[in-house]
Formats: sequence, C-alpha cells, structure tokens
Amino acid sequence: MLADKHVLLIIGGGIAAYKSLELIRLLRTAGARVTPVLTRAGAEFVTPLSVSALAGCKVYSDLFDLGDEAEMGHIQLSRVADLVVVAPATADLMAKMAQGLAGDLAATLLLATDTPVLMAPAMNVRMWEHPATQRNLATLQGDGIAVVGPNAGDMACGEYGPGRMAEPAEILTAVEMRLSDGPLIGKRVLITSGPTHEPIDPVRYIANRSSGAQGTAIATALAALGAEVIFVTGPADVPPPAGVKVISVQTAEQMLQAVQAALPCDAAVFAAAVADWRVASASASKLKKTKGGLPALTFAENPDILRHVSQMKKGRPGLVVGFAAETDDVLANATAKRDRKGCDWIVANDVSPETGIMGGTENAVTLITETGAEPWPRMGKDAVAAQLAQRIATALGQGA
Ligand code: C5P
Repeated sequence: MLADKHVLLIIGGGIAAYKSLELIRLLRTAGARVTPVLTRAGAEFVTPLSVSALAGCKVYSDLFDLGDEAEMGHIQLSRVADLVVVAPATADLMAKMAQGLAGDLAATLLLATDTPVLMAPAMNVRMWEHPATQRNLATLQGDGIAVVGPNAGDMACGEYGPGRMAEPAEILTAVEMRLSDGPLIGKRVLITSGPTHEPIDPVRYIANRSSGAQGTAIATALAALGAEVIFVTGPADVPPPAGVKVISVQTAEQMLQAVQAALPCDAAVFAAAVADWRVASASASKLKKTKGGLPALTFAENPDILRHVSQMKKGRPGLVVGFAAETDDVLANATAKRDRKGCDWIVANDVSPETGIMGGTENAVTLITETGAEPWPRMGKDAVAAQLAQRIATALGQGA
C-alpha cells in the first residue's frame, strides 16, 4: 500500500512516544520508508537506538549537528518525504508549529517543509481542552495540517478524557489515505451513517439500534482508495473513521442541513438509519408524570434525505447510493425503494433477527442498480465496504 512512499516521522516528547515505535513498524510493513526525527524531550521516552533499529536508518535529533548537516542539511531533510507525520504531537510542539517557531530541529523542519503534514496529538486532557491548545489546533487546521485523534480514554496521568494519541493502526490508515494512489484521488464522497436521535424533551429521545459500523467501514474503504470523505454521522456506537472530515449531528433535520452544506460532491452514500418521524414540538422542559394520564405526543415526518438529494434538479451528485434494510420481500421492496427515491443504487439487506446481520460483523447484501439485482455472498462488513468502494470507484471512473 505504501511502497515507494517516504514518511518523515517526528517523535515529540510524551509518554505516547512508545506507540511511535509500533507506528514505525507498521509503516515499514506497509512498504514505506521512514526517516525518524526525535526531539530532545522525545528521547526521554524512547531511545534513539530503538527508533533507529526499527526505522532501519539513522535518527536525526539536533539542529546544530555538524555531521548531520554535512550529510543532509535540515532544509533538505524537510523535503525528503511524501508526508511529515508528527506523533506524538505534544501541546508544546503544536504551540511551536502554530507560532512558526524554529528553535530546534523538529520545529525547523515543520516550518521549512513543503510536504503535507499529519499530526497525532497526545497530551493530558486539560492541556488538550485548554483554550490555548484549541486555538493552536484551529490555526494548524487552517494551515492545512491534517489531524488524527486524539482519542478519549484512560490516560497515563490517571485522568480520563480526550488526549490519548490515536492507535498506531489508526495513524497508519490516516497515512495511507493521504498517500494513496487510489482510483478515487480527487473525488469527494459524502456518507451518512449511524442513527438519529429525535428529542421528546431535554432528556428523552427517539432512537434506533443502528451502530454505524457499516457506514464507518464504507467511509474507511472509500478514503483508502484516495477519496476526500465527508462523514456525516448521528450518535453512533463505533468511533468515526480516522483521517476523514467528521460532522456530528443528532437529528434528521440537522443531518439534512449538514448534507446540504457538504454538497457538491461526486458521490453520496446514505447509510444512516434516519428516524422517519420526530416529535412535532419537543418540550423545552422535562415532561412530568401527570395524574390525568399519558402525555400525548404528536409526530411530524422527518425529511427524507436520500430522496431529497436523489431528486435535486441542480447539483445532484453523479452517483447516489441508498440502503434498504428489510425483513420481508427484500428484493421487491428494495427495488421499489430505488424507484421511489430516485437514487442510482440500493444496497439491500435482510435484517430479520435470524440472519444475525443487525449488530453483527457480517452482511449479506444485494446491489440493485438500473441493470438489475446482484446478490453478493455473505462476508464481513469491511469486505462489503471494500467491494462497494471499488464499485463506486469504477462507476465514477466511467463518468457517473
Ligand atoms: O425509507 P427507508 O428508511 O427504508 O430508506 C432507507 C434509505 O433512505 C437509507 O439509505 C437511509 O439512509 C435513507 N433515508 C434518509 N432519510 C430518511 C429516511 C431514510 O436519507 N428520512
């Protein structure tokens, strides 16, 4: 996947630096060449010897090292790679990058480089949430620096929250997305995923059992083929894919707005399980038990996002894909749904409890297109996603 690709890996000084050793191993296994740069603080956590042994080359640390400068000047070092990865990107490194400081080798390389930069922040949750770090993050994102993580979880310092560095495998996926020579380079694809939550009052809502697993797998597969992915997700169980633009929403109406704001795009995949109805006017205060009986909830119909986009007169994506989760007459219902909504393809599946598909790791789908119904064998949701992504790439390649 990363053959002939070259990564300049800057390892900052945080406890997560130990994960960067595994990242080097994964990058090299994927075929990439890795040139490591270890900051002085980074060397307090991992040794230059381990970094260099895993990378299979020397590790650069000092701005004023005569030997290094004679071998490769720091400006040249900043330009050797296809991608600069900063992992862990500490609060200090982020601040230096945002300010354009160049007081050490890592900061100088980041200021001098003309190649894309991906950073994996890692720090204590309070440091991450501090307005200064959030300002720096916004500045860096505005400068075009891609970000993977941080994840929420237990931290080495004993606290809990966002600040853990993304796992090496997630960083690898984000690197692959950026360096892919895939067929979807230059294509913009929108995906909806997960359930929606429709409020009844400030504490109650209507929801469904969608985990978001299939939509997330499709987003990952499309990004791995090089697509720019915009992932509009309801409150899902699974974490969103790494390295894609994530827009989080709660309700169907918010999802429609996010979808409209993300257009135009080349293809759109509507994998979300959108609630068909919402409570017409959600109560501003918590509904109370009343002696006189049950609260009367009046429902209103939610916008059908798939139908809306499929039937756009102007700016319709070249390829619109919907899903049909059915329990009876799967083929007939899904084929009728394709006509009714006006989408190009429907991915149909049988979600009867005996199939074990809903909430499971496997899926058995039928792809319905204008030329007919094509049953795919039962396989893992990741494999369904990979096959669908390939089909989308083929369709877009043919000018869909
Ligand atoms: O009508 P039904 O919910 O069965 O259709 C399923 C397809 O329509 C899915 O692709 C789903 O994402 C999409 N949908 C939508 N907006 C809705 C309801 C469903 O985009 N309000």
